[in-house]
Amino acid sequence: MKICIIGSGYVGLVSGACFSDLGNTVTCVDINREIVEKLNKGIIPIYEPGLHELVVRNLKKKRLLFTTDISSSIKKSDIIFICVGTPTKNNKADLKYVFNVTKSIKSNLNRYKIIVTKSTVPVTTGDKITKILKSNINKNKFDVVSNPEFLREGEAIRDFQFPDRVVVGTSSNKANKIMKKLYLPLIKKGGRYFHTSRRSAELIKYASNAFLATKITFINEIANLSEKLNIDVKEVAIGMGLDERIGSRFLRAGPAYGGSCFPKDTRALVSTGRMFKTNLSVVKSVINSNDKRTNLLLNKISKIMNNKIKNKNITFLGVTFKPGTDDMRESSSLKMIPSLIRKGAHVNYYEPTGKKKELKSKKINFFDNIKDACKSADLIIIHTEWNEFKQLNFKKITKKRNFKVFDMRNLYSTSEMKKNKINYFSIGR
Ligand SMILES: NC(=O)c1ccc[n+]([C@@H]2O[C@H](COP(=O)([O-])OP(=O)(O)OC[C@H]3O[C@@H](n4cnc5c(N)ncnc54)[C@H](O)[C@@H]3O)[C@@H](O)[C@H]2O)c1
Repeated sequence: MKICIIGSGYVGLVSGACFSDLGNTVTCVDINREIVEKLNKGIIPIYEPGLHELVVRNLKKKRLLFTTDISSSIKKSDIIFICVGTPTKNNKADLKYVFNVTKSIKSNLNRYKIIVTKSTVPVTTGDKITKILKSNINKNKFDVVSNPEFLREGEAIRDFQFPDRVVVGTSSNKANKIMKKLYLPLIKKGGRYFHTSRRSAELIKYASNAFLATKITFINEIANLSEKLNIDVKEVAIGMGLDERIGSRFLRAGPAYGGSCFPKDTRALVSTGRMFKTNLSVVKSVINSNDKRTNLLLNKISKIMNNKIKNKNITFLGVTFKPGTDDMRESSSLKMIPSLIRKGAHVNYYEPTGKKKELKSKKINFFDNIKDACKSADLIIIHTEWNEFKQLNFKKITKKRNFKVFDMRNLYSTSEMKKNKINYFSIGR
């Protein structure tokens, strides 16, 4: 099939590369010329394991193309995937990129096409896109389908190639048949194809993200209680997770959830609830609890340091919101680090995906290895759960005698740390 992907970021690029690997001819469009030029040379602008090989292989086979020319890309394609960003504006999803793309599609509808929203868009966006596209000359020339994306950064290729489910929302049998054919290779590998209404598909995405954010926030609050009771939250999570109705995933206490999806999608869902006069009180309280979490952990840092933050060297190991990605969007480190600097700390960090433009200050230093980042540390904070932080010999990596470790991901055993006489603090234990 001939596919056009509009927006070549995390979702668009992964989807485009994976669809082309399945034998389709894919044109990925982006307005960012620099990204397009890099991609055509096989340089990947984001960190996503496995993506480079996939892009290079399909570029060579000429099944994958990158361009800024949206008009010709739309005209020559049968299926158009909208994969542009839907960031938060005034606590709502800002749909300006989606609607800009819709207008370009409208002026290039030369024959029947399926317009698919893969971007996360609030319920009724498909209706609005249909309204924009409708005109006398466009009659019967399009179907608007919702096909939300569930991939996780860091595992995106695997998630795309082996999905738990492919959700397709449309009332058009013709569009549904074509979408099913497109996804057939993934369905054959065990992915469940779920055909539903367009509005349901749109809500499934938000409800799923809000539910996962709720699980994380729930265990974070249980961790707060465990800490007071001298209980290990990890054991509570294991005990809970053994119940198949609950499941063990997303029950790991840590910093506030961040990333490009959960914070914006929970806010957008509450806003949709407001529009349709429905009080989503659970989601609201999740947002509220998560917003407070960073301050709670900052207070814990102050306590660990006996309220003496000024002139202390604090090292962050990992600053992204989770391992396996270079994405800094809404990472809790973006609030924690500036706050510690305002209190007079010097912050060093090591991050496997390199220096971050979001962390700029004379008092923040990036190091490209763990040892240099930690050697003068009074406090080492394990912020992101990268594998390389799981077996550190703290006594060897820092020269300070009275250093402390705050493990925000509970990577180490408290008894081991005690045995090794390391001043160790973690979450909910
Ligand atoms: N990142 C994730 O893990 C993830 C997972 C599932 C769903 N989503 C959703 O997918 C959507 C895209 O997210 P992302 O993380 O890939 O965003 P992104 O910011 O990484 O990429 C969006 C891209 O769209 C491009 N763009 C904007 N306007 C354009 C236009 N008019 N024409 C062509 N290109 C244009 C931008 O230049 C950018 O490269 C969002 O709605 C997001 O919520 C993201």
